[in-house]
Amino acid sequence: MSNRLMLPISRRALLSGAAGAATLAVAPGLRSPAIAQNAPLKVGLMLPYTGTYAKLGKFIDDGFRLYVEQKGGKLGGREITFVQVDDESKPEAGTDNMNRLVGREKADVVIGTVHSGVAMAMVKVARDTKTLLIIPNAGANDATGPACAPNIFRSSFSNWQPNYPMGKVMFDAGHKNVATITWKYAAGAEQMSAFKEGFTKAGGNVVEDLTLPFPEVEFQALITRIAQLKPDAVHAFFAGGGAVKFVKDYAAAGLGKTIPLYGAGFLTDGTLEAQGAAANGLKTTLHYADNLDNPANVAFLKAFKDKTGNVGDIYAVQGYDAAALLDVGMKAVGGDDKQRDKMIAAMGAAKIDSPRGPLSFNKAHNPIQNIYLREVRNGRNEMVSIAQKDVDDPARGCKLA
Ligand code: PHB
Repeated sequence: MSNRLMLPISRRALLSGAAGAATLAVAPGLRSPAIAQNAPLKVGLMLPYTGTYAKLGKFIDDGFRLYVEQKGGKLGGREITFVQVDDESKPEAGTDNMNRLVGREKADVVIGTVHSGVAMAMVKVARDTKTLLIIPNAGANDATGPACAPNIFRSSFSNWQPNYPMGKVMFDAGHKNVATITWKYAAGAEQMSAFKEGFTKAGGNVVEDLTLPFPEVEFQALITRIAQLKPDAVHAFFAGGGAVKFVKDYAAAGLGKTIPLYGAGFLTDGTLEAQGAAANGLKTTLHYADNLDNPANVAFLKAFKDKTGNVGDIYAVQGYDAAALLDVGMKAVGGDDKQRDKMIAAMGAAKIDSPRGPLSFNKAHNPIQNIYLREVRNGRNEMVSIAQKDVDDPARGCKLA
């Protein structure tokens, strides 16, 4: 495996390279089959390596590389090489960064990203250039909804998936009036809307939706507002560095005892060490729990720890599974990614023994997976129950048969 780190595209590079990038975007299809098959498969990793989602990006990267290493650096017999770009979770740079990967860098496949807004820019370029894209986190519903395409897969979740089941969980726990709080961008809006769908269907009432711009972390005014509103409970979406601060601020305000905090599991995944006691007892829903005792999870956590020294989390799992999904496709075509239809058919039919449990894909190429109710105990997100089994995203607006 080889590796190159690209800095985020500069304005100057952009201006001088824009025309080249546009022309080169179609170049992979023009390479001769002989060259294409002997050359390593070039995987473009477009992830946030800086900013509030930096740790998420690193764990996805580590998880992906771990899988490839376990296969001796090859997928479907073809050597893998990497090129990576820091997207900084900036949607405004998403199109240029993606164009640079598929154009100038001639990535054969792109893996990215974390932030829903950046991912939608990538989806547009992937559709235009027919580049194979695997989204290893971003939940933007549209990517496997109206913008779905044969060449676009997701190894993670739709924003709808981990939040819809929480509606019933909270209602059944006796909470009738709930406030939501999140960052004001696609992921926050879609996650809270899915929660609201499940919660109102169960009989609950959302009293107020509180938001602040991404990636701000000045939560105090909103926490004061929650204290005034006195809802029965709060449902939140934050992740990464922002989730660490929110959970600590909420606990410091002393609200945890009277107004319990719940969330999509991103609130407490990959964050527990930094959150410390403030996270104890928090209940969240997600497609993973630390103590899933299936053999795939036990082996994955050990291998991840051995490689990185870190405890694996959902982001590492999603990176690992993105590579597993690509492997299914590459095996089906003996490493010849130009047999695109055959490769895509195999990936769409993949059944992966994931650390998260059974993983398959719907017609829109979004995962079908269990959503677990977890509780933070002893510094871990421990499974309480399966909140909803084999959750399939509604894929609203996807025209793929
Ligand atoms: C998203 O923007 O889709 C997103 C980001 C971080 C998460 C989950 C979703 O942990």
